[in-house]
Amino acid sequence: MWSVPKVLILIIFRLISNFVSAETGEPKIKPFQFSTDINLGMREAVHCIVTYGEPPFEFMWFKDGQLLESIRGISYRKTDEFMSSLVISKVDADSNGNYTCRVTNSVGSDQKSAVLSVKGKKRFVCSYNLIRMGRIILHEKQQKK
Ligand SMILES: *[C@@H]1O[C@H](CO)[C@@H](O)[C@H](O)[C@H]1NC(C)=O
Repeated sequence: MWSVPKVLILIIFRLISNFVSAETGEPKIKPFQFSTDINLGMREAVHCIVTYGEPPFEFMWFKDGQLLESIRGISYRKTDEFMSSLVISKVDADSNGNYTCRVTNSVGSDQKSAVLSVKGKKRFVCSYNLIRMGRIILHEKQQKK
């Protein structure tokens, strides 16, 4: 059993630590998620929203730990002082991955991640096409004989 003073100390400690973290003004990102029913060819977007902290904020996006800069079809834009949007113009099997938004201000940073997982049969279609191509090439070679 906890004695009353211990509980009081705990409450006071909580209040102080809340106050301290409020004072530091480190950014806090609202968790975001990709839709669970994305299919190949669809457009998808997520928003990285900073719900706490002092601007200005710098936004950075990563895919599987790599800085997202020039992946074709994926772009991001600071849509507001406290928000950045990531847009995947046409989801394909290469879009799968773990996307991270990192926000930094003068006192600290925060990051949140979400995993994009597309249901699709691109690999199957791709290998099917390769087999077909192989057949066509074989066929052409045979005809040239
Ligand atoms: C996604 O990436 C973040 C940051 O690198 C990591 O902390 C997290 O565990 C990863 N999530 C998954 C499901 O791999």
